[in-house]
Amino acid sequence: MAKIRVVVAGYGNVGRGVLAALKNNPDMVAVGVLSRNPDRVRKSFNEIPVMQIADVDTWLDALKPDVAILCGGSKDDLPIQGPALAQRINTVDSFDNHSRISEYFAAMDVAAGKSGHVSVISTGWDPGIFSMERVVANAFLPGSRAYGFYGLGESGGLSMGHSDALRTIPGVKDARQYTHAVSASIEKVRSGENPEFTPGDMHTRECFVVLEDGADQNAVAETIRTMPGYFAPYKTEIHFVTQEFLDQNCAGFPHDGLVVAAGNTGNNHSARIEYRCIWGSNPEATANVLVAHARAVSRLADEGKCGAFTILDIPPAYFSMHSKEELLKKFM
Ligand SMILES: NC(=O)c1ccc[n+]([C@@H]2O[C@H](COP(=O)([O-])OP(=O)(O)OC[C@H]3O[C@@H](n4cnc5c(N)ncnc54)[C@H](OP(=O)(O)O)[C@@H]3O)[C@@H](O)[C@H]2O)c1
Repeated sequence: MAKIRVVVAGYGNVGRGVLAALKNNPDMVAVGVLSRNPDRVRKSFNEIPVMQIADVDTWLDALKPDVAILCGGSKDDLPIQGPALAQRINTVDSFDNHSRISEYFAAMDVAAGKSGHVSVISTGWDPGIFSMERVVANAFLPGSRAYGFYGLGESGGLSMGHSDALRTIPGVKDARQYTHAVSASIEKVRSGENPEFTPGDMHTRECFVVLEDGADQNAVAETIRTMPGYFAPYKTEIHFVTQEFLDQNCAGFPHDGLVVAAGNTGNNHSARIEYRCIWGSNPEATANVLVAHARAVSRLADEGKCGAFTILDIPPAYFSMHSKEELLKKFM
């Protein structure tokens, strides 16, 4: 069987994770990296061709890829790169701006549908596998609500978006933000109450901040605590630390999370569904999910499908590198 030829569009944390993940998937091969700045990428990566993402005809012709895994940022990159590339090639991405997924789906559906390509959007762990778990938990326990909690371990989970938000504050040199789940709230859900929560009831936030020389610590703390959406709704603990402390104690991208739903089955017996993920590296985990979806994209395209899809639209067997016979024998 010919291997599925993959190009990795965007060389950041997730892009590097995809290149590593592809090595564990023998039916797939990375044939190129696409970047807005190939010179930057080539300084640290030269294993396969690195090409300018805007030169679409050139890399399509040279690399003959089947699927592009889009690893750009959700805020500014994917809304532009996604629809542009979906017109030229099958794509997968991890667009994670939850409130804009419907809008992004519509744009990708038009772009991929018109050109006869398949585009799987918004996959990773959340949105992605946690979306699927929320849907099946609710379907199998009608009336239950599925809740997502993040940062269950003692040190919590590193939020890349919130860390980026801290680094935009004037006077902040470097920073990391760890999310902690409120365990009492998890227990409330487990008890079957289906509680109404504000965001601050479910999670707290812990910030490790390195200040620029001469920065006003109190002003920075006030800016953090009052930042709308990111910190204002939460109990937020702030530690001002040295760069050495941050480098030694806050390396890597650990994260974890839990989907939990509780309710009753037909004769009023209590029932609970839980699904937990623990990641040593959030971007590498996201990358592994993206790669499995690239296999599904290739299968959907081989069937003549086109348009936008999410994880909810794809049979799980399409993610697997195993044959139907193996799945029936070993996984059912
Ligand atoms: N669904 C999920 O569960 C999930 C989980 C985690 C992340 N995500 C999404 O994945 C997206 C990508 O995350 P990421 O951590 O890979 O972001 P990132 O490291 O900031 O990379 C994003 C893009 O920025 C460019 N870039 C990276 N490093 C750079 C540098 N040193 N200088 C200049 N440009 C650089 C790259 O594009 P070029 O190579 O074209 O310059 C890259 O594709 C996030 O925005 C998030 O939305 C989703």
